[in-house]
Amino acid sequence: STPLRLGLAGLGTVGTGVVKIIQNHAGLLAARAGRPVEISAVSARTRGKNRGVDLSDYGWEDDPVALATRDDVDVFVELMGGADGPAKAATEAAIAAGKDVVTANKAMLATHGQALAEAAEARGALIRFEAAVAGGIPVVKALTEGLAGNRMLRVMGVMNGTCNYILTRMENAGLPYAEVFEEASALGYLEADPTLDVGGIDAGHKLALLASIAFGTRVAFDHVELEGIERISIDDIRHAADMGFRIKLLGVAQMTGRGLEQRMSPCLVPAGSPLGQLENATNMVVLEGDASGQIVLRGAGAGEGPTASAVMSDVLDIARGIRLSTFGQPAATLAAPIPARATAA
Ligand code: NDP
Ligand code: HSE
Repeated sequence: STPLRLGLAGLGTVGTGVVKIIQNHAGLLAARAGRPVEISAVSARTRGKNRGVDLSDYGWEDDPVALATRDDVDVFVELMGGADGPAKAATEAAIAAGKDVVTANKAMLATHGQALAEAAEARGALIRFEAAVAGGIPVVKALTEGLAGNRMLRVMGVMNGTCNYILTRMENAGLPYAEVFEEASALGYLEADPTLDVGGIDAGHKLALLASIAFGTRVAFDHVELEGIERISIDDIRHAADMGFRIKLLGVAQMTGRGLEQRMSPCLVPAGSPLGQLENATNMVVLEGDASGQIVLRGAGAGEGPTASAVMSDVLDIARGIRLSTFGQPAATLAAPIPARATAA
């Protein structure tokens, strides 16, 4: 049967994780997809770097745009990161060439998701982004597929592994922020620009993407009321603990009578609650549908294996011929959201 041929741009934490799954699970993937899943060619910034994986069977492109438009690439897998720059240029080039795109890039989608989705649909191409939200937790699919019959009432949760890691390690080990930050970096949790993590921006991007799917609205990251964890001190954490609470960077999106409310900010949660018990880089997303009631999803929100697992779920969907719209419905039908805060006064 005809293989599905990938062009993989980005061979860092997530990209090498994807290479490992494709190499280690070739038989399993072919059985589930009904066809082999292969890498045709790869791209990264530095060609000679030892990445701990064997890339010798694959073609190489210095330029991700050239990779995205190769004749032997059916699906462009974008794992470089960055809202603009090469990630966006190569994604646009792939779409223009009618190729499907799988990406883990929440920054790009939160900023340009509507335009990219419209362009993809105009070309009959797909953009899929399971890995962009909550790492290994299949939350995008939960919303677009599992809960598709619901009117969604609320989406909330802890969606940045780095922040949860920092907050829980500071508390559990009594370690200073700077030391814990270095640990998170060594574990591969951090964005290339870590202010995206600790400033709450990365989690805000994820919340905006989920809100779009949940409420049928265009992605509106600009409307997210945002506060990061930079100003949380070990004393804040201790005072909260004394009163039976923990501090979590918590996101909430809900459609209110005033419009769409989207907030990402440090919150006190009861220490004994499921959210309060989240340790390390674990994420938790709570989805509340009018028919389903509350669904709680919990798992690794960052790191090589979990994120690569999510990338592969999109690749397998495409290999199986599943053609879901980027945000769960055609991009042109998404409504312009009214931000709740603008009408609150
Ligand atoms: P890394 O920084 O580990 O890897 C980035 C890769 O992109 C590197 O291989 C780098 O090349 C390559 N790259 C960067 N710029 C260029 C360029 N101009 N041309 C070609 N290649 C380039 O990032 P991650 O793997 O951590 O993240 C990748 C994406 O996944 C990001 O969008 C991130 O937000 C997202 N993500 C990451 C998660 C995680 O846990 N790490 C979880 C969920 C999503 P080189 O190696 O040569 O420098
Ligand atoms: N930097 C992100 C985090 C990676 O820590 O959650 C996963 O999206």
